[in-house]
Amino acid sequence: MDVGHFTPIEETALLTEYARALDSRSLRPILGDTLAGEVVGKIDYDFAGLGVIASVVCLVALRAKMLDERIRAFTTEHPDAVVVDLGAGLNSAVFRVDPPPSVDWYSVDLPAVIKLRDALLPRRDRSHSVAASLAEPDWTDAISGDRPTMVVADGLFPFLSERVVVAIFRHITDHFESGMFVFNDYGTVGRIKRFASLVTTRKRMFRTLYSQWGFGGFKDAHHPETWNPNLKLVEEAGALHEPDVALFPPMLRVGSRIAARFPASARNTRILRYQF
Ligand SMILES: C[S@@+](CC[C@H](N)C(=O)[O-])C[C@H]1O[C@@H](n2cnc3c(N)ncnc32)[C@H](O)[C@@H]1O
Repeated sequence: MDVGHFTPIEETALLTEYARALDSRSLRPILGDTLAGEVVGKIDYDFAGLGVIASVVCLVALRAKMLDERIRAFTTEHPDAVVVDLGAGLNSAVFRVDPPPSVDWYSVDLPAVIKLRDALLPRRDRSHSVAASLAEPDWTDAISGDRPTMVVADGLFPFLSERVVVAIFRHITDHFESGMFVFNDYGTVGRIKRFASLVTTRKRMFRTLYSQWGFGGFKDAHHPETWNPNLKLVEEAGALHEPDVALFPPMLRVGSRIAARFPASARNTRILRYQF
C-alpha cells in the first residue's frame, strides 16, 4: 500500500506500528504483536530509514501492554462496554485485548489513516472505524453514549493543540454517561526539550515526532480535573516501574531503573486513568 500522500501527522501512525513490529521480532518481546509485523510488511514506506531506537521500541510496546491490560479489565467487568480508541492509527489493540463479543470497539482517526487501517487490518465483528478529526466534536456522532465506555488514547495528545486536547477532555463526559478514560502521558514537554531532541539527532524518527509536537503537557496528573471536574484521577502508573523493564536491552534497563527514581523522568512515560 502506498502512503506517499500521508501528511507528517498521519505518518506518526506508521512509526508506532513499526515500533510494535520491531518489538514482535525481538528475542524477548514485551507486547509480541505479530499482526503489527504483518501490517508493516504490506506498506510501501522506508521504515528502516526512520532510525527507530531501542528505547522507543520498548516504551511503545510497554505502554501498549499497560493500556491493553486496563481495557481488558474494564471490558471483562463490563461485557456491554464500548471501547473508543482516539487516534487509533494502525494499532491492533482490539485483536490483542480480544474483548467479549458483545463489546463494540470504535477506532477514530483521520480519513487517510482509517482508509489504510481498513485496508490492512483483518475485519472483526463489532469493530468499527470512524474517519473524523478529533478537532471537531462530531467524532462521537456514530457512537452511543449510554453504555459503560472505555476511552483510550495511545500516543495522541502531543500532536494536538492544547485547545483541542481540552475540548476532547470535556467532550468525553458530555457524550459518554460513564466509564474510564486512559492514555499515556509525557508530563511537561518544554520547548527546550523539543529543541534538544532536534539538534542532538539526525534520526528521521525524531523529525517525524517532534516537528508535529503541539502540546506542552502538564506535570500534575490532577490538572485535567481543572479542565473537566467530571473526570476523577484514579491511577497514575509509571511504565519504568513495570516488571517488563527486565526485558529491555541491558544498557536501557539500567538507565530506565535509574530514571524511574526521578519523578520528572518517570512522568515522561506514565499512564493516566480517569473515571467519569
Ligand atoms: C503517534 S500516532 C499513534 C497511533 C496509534 N494510537 C498507535 O498507538 O499506533 C498518532 C495518531 O493520531 C492521529 N491524529 C492526529 N491528529 C488527529 C486528529 N485531529 N484527529 C484524529 N486523529 C488524529 C494520527 O493520524 C495518528 O494516527
